Amino acid sequence: MELENEIMNAYTVVFDGLVHLGPSDSATTRNLVERLRPDLPSASRVADFGCGVGASALVLAQSLPEARVLALDSHAPFIARLETAANKRGLGERISAVVGDMADPPPLDGVMGMFDLIWSESAIYSIGRANAFTCWRPLLKPDGWLVFSDIVWQRKPAARSVKASSFWAREYPDIKTAADVVDELTAAGFSTLDPVLSPRKAWSNYYEPLRDRLHLLSKLENRSPALINVIADLEREIHIYDCAGDDVALFFFLAQRDSVPK
Ligand SMILES: C[S@@+](CC[C@H](N)C(=O)[O-])C[C@H]1O[C@@H](n2cnc3c(N)ncnc32)[C@H](O)[C@@H]1O
Repeated sequence: MELENEIMNAYTVVFDGLVHLGPSDSATTRNLVERLRPDLPSASRVADFGCGVGASALVLAQSLPEARVLALDSHAPFIARLETAANKRGLGERISAVVGDMADPPPLDGVMGMFDLIWSESAIYSIGRANAFTCWRPLLKPDGWLVFSDIVWQRKPAARSVKASSFWAREYPDIKTAADVVDELTAAGFSTLDPVLSPRKAWSNYYEPLRDRLHLLSKLENRSPALINVIADLEREIHIYDCAGDDVALFFFLAQRDSVPK
């Protein structure tokens, strides 16, 4: 537990001041919300699971001006930053920023589940897609929407770099192709739209400020062993992106809960 805390503290230090804690792009988030808007009630109940410091939760609340948003993350310092950002933008009343486990989410406004929209960017891998679909489907209203981004294989196995293959097999054993993820969603009781490819900008939004931050932190004296390890892990990830970024892609999956499970 102590080691886990030290690692999470190291992430707090590394991500201090960064907005995107994974590959993401606010313009893409906004466009996808616009696409779903005709299907959503104006006073929608929305959840953002694994919200980090709120990059997408803030966009959701701004794009859906009457919605209430449950922004949930397991790491308290990220939620504290999101609360400050939401209050600064006058969104504090509509965003409930909560520390919790997205595999066992708390009620919003005392009501358990019944979300019109569950959103999750670059976070579903933490609890596993199959687990997420099982936990989240009952929280959606009939015909409610699940939208999440996930890293998938873009190249066929023979065309992938050896370095990227072993990196992703170790870091994300559940990585699949976009077509496989669609099949998983169908089997889990969702109807899907065509997956949407995120622009490369989503990666640079994350990696470029992170690269600068890691460079700065690696010059510090008295870094804890946990911080040294976290910096090394993230540098490795950026290196894989630099040399084999096209092996993988970030896709958004837009899935509507089937009223009757298949
Ligand atoms: C890669 S970050 C993405 C954050 C944010 N969605 C973004 O795009 O900036 C993944 C987030 O998931 C959170 N997380 C991991 N496991 C979680 C869990 N079981 N419940 C809630 N949040 C979790 C982490 O604390 C982290 O903030």
